[in-house]
Formats: sequence, structure tokens, C-alpha cells
Amino acid sequence: MLHRLRAKYGPIFTLYVGSRPVVFIMDGDLAHRSLMERSEIFADRPRPILATSDLNTNLLTINNTSYGSVWRLLRRNLASGVVNPCKATKSSTQVQRMALDILLKSLKKEAEANGGIVVPVHSIQHSVSFLMTSLCFGVALDEDVVDKIKNVQVGLLSLVDNRYALNLLPKVVLPLFLRRLPKLKQIRQAHEELLIPIIRARKKLAAQKSEQIGLMISYVDSLLKLRVPVDGVTGTTTTVLRELSEEDIVSFCSKFLDASIWPACAALEWIMIMAKEGDQISDGVKENVMIMADHHEYLIPKGAVVNYLVTSVGLDASVWEEPLEFRPERFMPGGEGEEVDVNCGKSEIKMMPFGAGRRMCPGSDLAMLQLQYLVANFVNEIVELKAVEGMEVDLSDQAGLFVAMKNPLHARITLS
Ligand code: HEM
Repeated sequence: MLHRLRAKYGPIFTLYVGSRPVVFIMDGDLAHRSLMERSEIFADRPRPILATSDLNTNLLTINNTSYGSVWRLLRRNLASGVVNPCKATKSSTQVQRMALDILLKSLKKEAEANGGIVVPVHSIQHSVSFLMTSLCFGVALDEDVVDKIKNVQVGLLSLVDNRYALNLLPKVVLPLFLRRLPKLKQIRQAHEELLIPIIRARKKLAAQKSEQIGLMISYVDSLLKLRVPVDGVTGTTTTVLRELSEEDIVSFCSKFLDASIWPACAALEWIMIMAKEGDQISDGVKENVMIMADHHEYLIPKGAVVNYLVTSVGLDASVWEEPLEFRPERFMPGGEGEEVDVNCGKSEIKMMPFGAGRRMCPGSDLAMLQLQYLVANFVNEIVELKAVEGMEVDLSDQAGLFVAMKNPLHARITLS
């Protein structure tokens, strides 16, 4: 529907949900004018209707904390630690190697059991979950524990509604949404049962000043040291600070896993069939702002929610030749993508898989590193990867918080 509206109204248009304006921005030029040139005005985020953290804490996770000092504190804690590739240790490199082995072993096992045919998404999810839980908790967990954690994360994901993600739900339907509360509570409890023992074990090692702590930098270690304002909001120097509770830490770890596992899995599956898609991000605007669009000024009112259709930006036919074609050479010298910066630090935006501006994904460097490592090594191990006879590869996507394949890839695979 959004693509039809773009064809009719152009790359910026507003939908009204009740009296609330929801603006859609669908090209790189407008994304640059707003997210980069007026970055502070577009750096807020609307409060979610219901967040897992609402159940037992006054803190929200990084991606839905309002722009301000608490967001800065939480973001700095993540960005300066585990997602910073310069902090990688020998153990994190080992964990990466183990994740690759898990991916290859799992694909081989599936291929042997099914006459060479695999549905790679299962092995990808298993391997990426192993990698991210290891980085989150600082320890290579048993594969069956990783799978249990992954299944709880899948449960959480199933509660997300696309209209909710795009802020397109009017307030009158909110009571219907609250029907999901019991399911959310159930998932939350499963999470606490699984994660709290792991967090306690890590805390004990830290208290004993165990050498194991130094072996691998982890997100949990940084959360155990973090102090946040008691009211969860202000964070000025006069504010009283507190440690994070175990429940807070579960929320942050869950969000870390959610934010890192699913987009990386989707990216790996699309890479396997040589196609790419994106994600969408949304902003709450801090003041009225005029944006130039097609020589006209477009007013974005204060408080409006702005959704950026990242997929649309990356597939813009006025920027990319044959955008749906897999042509990696377009990123080589002389290609139209030669200068492209996925971290959007340049004067123009041609693609923004990790968003842009102040709320840009803090895990982009880590994600690129892991994806490049897994893809390069995986390609090395493949003798043959082709479509299954009689089964067309279906490139339809399942739009949501990230764009996954609607019908998972089935492939015939031979590994060395
Ligand atoms: C292929 C992998 C990934 C993709 C495509 C991706 C994409 C994105 C996008 C589009 C956003 C929204 C930016 C915005 O709201 O303006 C985002 C935010 C975020 N991502 Fe990622 N991401 C990936 C991997 C990761 C990883 C590995 C981590 C952490 C380990 C991570 C943590 C986050 C966090 C915490 C935010 C919220 C930032 C904020 O609101 O300040 N992501 N990501």
C-alpha cells in the first residue's frame, strides 16, 4: 500500500491516524534533509504502547527511550563496549569461528537428512543466535540453551504488529492490543527463568574477579556496572542513581538479542539468494519543521511520527540502475554505488540499512563484521548452491520491523 501511495503522492506524504499525523519519507534526499541536516529535531522516538519493560521497571530499552540524557547513557554503554569491533578479544574471535562451524554443521546435517535440500533460515537463526547470546552473556552457551532463548525471542517477535510498528494504530483500538498482555507476561516469565541464572553466574565471576571475565567483553558485564537515574528519566548530575535490577538487565539483554539476531538473519538469508531489502525506523519530531521536497516546502508538525521506509530508499530506481538486480560490481570503482557509505556519514544517502542520524544503529560495525565473516567463509565452503528443481525462488518479502522472506528459501546445497 505504501508503495502505491508513493507512486501517487511522491516520496513524502502524511496519513492521519485519528488526529495524529504519521509522515512517510521514502527517498534518500529527504532522509538526508531530515535525519542528517536536522538530526536533533528528528532524534526522538514515540513511546511504545506496550513494552516488555513496562511490566516491571520504569526504564525503556535504548530504541524507544526518548532522546535525552538517559538515552545517551544507555547508548554510550552499548556503543563503547561489546559492539565496538576494536574491543574484540581472542575469545570473541573464537566464538565467531564456532558460530560458522555451527552454521556449516547444521546445514550439512539437514542436507544429509533431506537428499541435499535445506531451508537455510533454520541453520542461520541457530548460528546467529549462538553468536549474539555469546556476545551478550560473555560465554559460549550450550546449543540447546541458545535454542530455548531463541524460541522465547521468536515468541516476542510474534507479538509485534506491523501497524503498531509503523504507529498506524489509532488509540481506540488500544484495549484490543492489551489482550496480548497475558501472553507477554508469560514470555517475560520464561525469559527471566532462562536468563537470570546466566546473569547471576556472570555477576558471581565478576565479584570473584575471575580471569574469565577478561577473556570476552560482554553486554551483561557493562550492564552490571551501569548506574541509571532512580526515576528512569532525568539523569542529570544531581539525580540519585541506582544499579540495574535483574529484571532491567533481562529487558536490555532481550532487546540486544532482538535488535541483533533478526536483522542479521534476514540479511544472511537474502544474501544467500542474492537479493537485499531493508528496515523501517520511526521518529517523533521535537518541533515544527519545513522540509524542501520537489521545490515545495513540506510541513512536518511537532510530535508527528515520521516513518522512513528504508527499503524504498535502497531500491530507488532514480538512484540505482535495475535496483532489484544482484550486481555487486555496482559497489566497485566506477559503479553507481562506489562511494556509498552504509553508515550514512556522507553528504547524500543512497541506502540506509542501519538508519541514519543520531539514532542510527549502534551495532552496524559489529553486524557488518559478522556478516562479512560468515558470508566470506560460507561461500568458501560451498561447492554448489542452487534452486530446488520445480520450486521457484519466491522473492516476496514479509514486511515488518525488518524485511524477511515471506516464503523461506529452499535450496539444494553441497558443502566441501
Ligand atoms: C544486519 C544487522 C542490523 C541491521 C540491518 C540493523 C538495523 C537497524 C536500524 C534500521 C535501526 C533503526 C535506527 C533508527 O531508529 O533510526 C537500528 C537500531 C538499533 N540497532 Fe540495529 N541493526 C542491525 C544489527 C544490530 C546489532 C548487531 C545490534 C547490537 C548488538 C543492534 C542494536 C541496535 C540498537 C540498540 C538500536 C536502537 C538505537 C537507538 O535508538 O539509539 N543492531 N538497527
